[in-house]
Amino acid sequence: MKQILFTSAVALALIACGGSGTESKEQVKEEPKQETAAAPAVPSDNPDYEKGLALVAASDCLTCHKVDEKVNGPSYRDVANKYENTEANVKMLAGKVIKGGSGVWGEVLMTPHPALSQADAEQMVKYILLLKNN
Ligand code: HEC
Repeated sequence: MKQILFTSAVALALIACGGSGTESKEQVKEEPKQETAAAPAVPSDNPDYEKGLALVAASDCLTCHKVDEKVNGPSYRDVANKYENTEANVKMLAGKVIKGGSGVWGEVLMTPHPALSQADAEQMVKYILLLKNN
């Protein structure tokens, strides 16, 4: 008698486990990652990237700006994500680099860069705006 009770208890346990086993298999499904769809164009393919980066590196910009980290100024990625890459924005931002600015990202001042030509400042801004969404 004891033997029969024991066997049926084991059988019941097996049935219970079998049921929950299939359930948990269904829950394991994962969302497929969409890396390929979100992959951005490599910005360094663009000639504006190289030229602008060289100018930025030769000036004092990197003492206050990093690509991905806020220093004194906003990260260049944040700047790129804020402004659309249009001619008007490039001109406007280049003007700010030359004249200096504050009030958009906080109260910290960007020093003016009067020695920069408008063309060089625009080239720098073109590089910065290419950093969008990476
Ligand atoms: C002394 C520190 C400092 C230096 C040097 C500096 N910046 Fe800035 N930059 C800032 C700060 C602070 C801001 C945010 C100003 C604001 O809130 O309007 C800023 C903002 C900007 C913006 C965004 C402006 C806006 O209105 O959104 C651009 C573009 C920029 N800097 C480019 C440059 C370039 C290019 C150089 C090099 C020629 C440079 N910065 C050098 C501190 C600096």
